Amino acid sequence: MSAEPTPFAQVDDMPPQIRALILGALERMAASPEIQRVRRVAQAALDPRPGQRLLDVGSGVGEVARQLAAAVAPDGEVVAVDASAAAVAVATDRHDGSAVTYAVGDITALDFPDASFDGVRTERVLQHLADPDAAVAELARVTRPGGRVCLVDTDWTSVAGDGLPDDLVDAIWRAVPARQHHPTMGRTLRGRLVRAGLAEVRCEPVPLWFTDPESASAVIPVFNKEIPREAGIIPDELRDRWFAAVDAAAARDEFLAVLTIWVAVGVTPARTRPA
Ligand SMILES: C[S@@+](CC[C@H](N)C(=O)[O-])C[C@H]1O[C@@H](n2cnc3c(N)ncnc32)[C@H](O)[C@@H]1O
Repeated sequence: MSAEPTPFAQVDDMPPQIRALILGALERMAASPEIQRVRRVAQAALDPRPGQRLLDVGSGVGEVARQLAAAVAPDGEVVAVDASAAAVAVATDRHDGSAVTYAVGDITALDFPDASFDGVRTERVLQHLADPDAAVAELARVTRPGGRVCLVDTDWTSVAGDGLPDDLVDAIWRAVPARQHHPTMGRTLRGRLVRAGLAEVRCEPVPLWFTDPESASAVIPVFNKEIPREAGIIPDELRDRWFAAVDAAAARDEFLAVLTIWVAVGVTPARTRPA
């Protein structure tokens, strides 16, 4: 597995143009009906209740935190933490007056005491980390006994489709995973929660599907023509042929792309006090 950090692991270190593209991509994803479907499954798994204090880590531009604030109203609150100061600035800009506070922080070293939240979640963050299990342990640490830890992540190896030449698809997908820390993250979430000692662990695969490249491009970067060549998502020598094939599939109305995002949840056990 490559240890090369992904752009999402270092948003603030990206050139301004790429940073703006990344943050814009998060807003586009939030608007995708398929991502909204994943988030409904995740919200049911986290099961927010009025009065609770919740944490969303790697909160991006903050829409989920704001949705959760509505679920814990009138006297609950949500904390949204992201490693990127630029993401936190956009999230703060989008603030709607609900009970959300935004902060910069690292999922592997959270600045909160043990058991400070009734529930915590993280969405499409673990795939970008060098040590995702350290992050899961940290999420469990800050959750009160009996509280829920909800993980959402993509299985990039599940991407499949129709309408495009097999050899081209193979070449593109051979190139893409090399840039990711953990392409299989989604399907490993359940095991990670079990190994971290959570109880009542459940998981659910949510298949996303797209019948046009425009909607697919909000979620699957290889279909996004706006991502510049320099980002290196698509090998330069394949780029023109790739997008010509994607356009041709769309023109024939044969374009199909699917991928699976997993939602997993577990309950934090009572802590045993050291003797
Ligand atoms: C793919 S985005 C997902 C954002 C948001 N959860 C969503 O679903 O739209 C990954 C986010 O994780 C943040 N991130 C990356 N590494 C992090 C870390 N070590 N601690 C906290 N956040 C991190 C990035 O800044 C980015 O906002």
